[in-house]
Amino acid sequence: MIILKTEQQIEGIRQSCHMLCDLLDSLHGRIKPGMSTKDIDSYCHSWIVKRHARPACLHYEGFPAATCVSINEEVIHGIPSRDKIIHDGDIVSVDLCINFKGYISDSARTYVVGNADASVLKLVNVTRECLYKGIEAASQPHARIQDIGSAVHKHAKANGFDVMRDYCGHGVGLDLHEDPEIPNYVCLTMSNPRIREGMVFAIEPMVHMGTHKIRILDDDWTVVTADGKPAAHFEHTVAITHNGLEILSER
Ligand code: MF3
Ligand code: CO
Repeated sequence: MIILKTEQQIEGIRQSCHMLCDLLDSLHGRIKPGMSTKDIDSYCHSWIVKRHARPACLHYEGFPAATCVSINEEVIHGIPSRDKIIHDGDIVSVDLCINFKGYISDSARTYVVGNADASVLKLVNVTRECLYKGIEAASQPHARIQDIGSAVHKHAKANGFDVMRDYCGHGVGLDLHEDPEIPNYVCLTMSNPRIREGMVFAIEPMVHMGTHKIRILDDDWTVVTADGKPAAHFEHTVAITHNGLEILSER
């Protein structure tokens, strides 16, 4: 069931999202070769609690950290570790959820560390573009949820990339994962509701340089590409207000 939010609830989610935007902004230029993924998590965790908010991923279905940090062929849900060291040329996806006064935000960005291959830079840029293509599709009058995945997949394919099939965007705001599911392609077996005022959801293209096939590591969380090729991930929380679509996790 899709929970439509009141203006007051959207204001709460907006504050949570703006906080998260500031945190992700502050990571720019801060991720350096030699750091571990745990260093990123420690930074984010203390940043959040200092502002009297809570990291909403921590303990969510047993996830053991505040931050999902995924390097190169890791697509999503990477568990931060002191043993995972970041190198020059890596791409590092940071996916965070904040609970501020009961309102949940969800946003992710992929950061390029130092000098990456041109093909990797293209992957990151196209994935960011896919996010904005999805947002644009959701902004059209009479749009439906699956118009988002249609636009995302079209742009990824046009650039020679594939999209994640096994994980989706989702409603968000009062819970971390609410209805509806928002696939990054057109999925005929999923619902396709009309987008309307009061909806708040997370659009999150996960784009693979190789095929869409994935596997899950023995830690039961980390999702990696089956072919070992890199993947990128960008995510925004958006709301449909009386003024149209607003990207909440952007300032
Ligand atoms: N942004 C992630 C998602 O939508 C949040 C995952 S939290 C975790 O799937 F705890 F499940 F990792
Ligand atoms: Co999400």
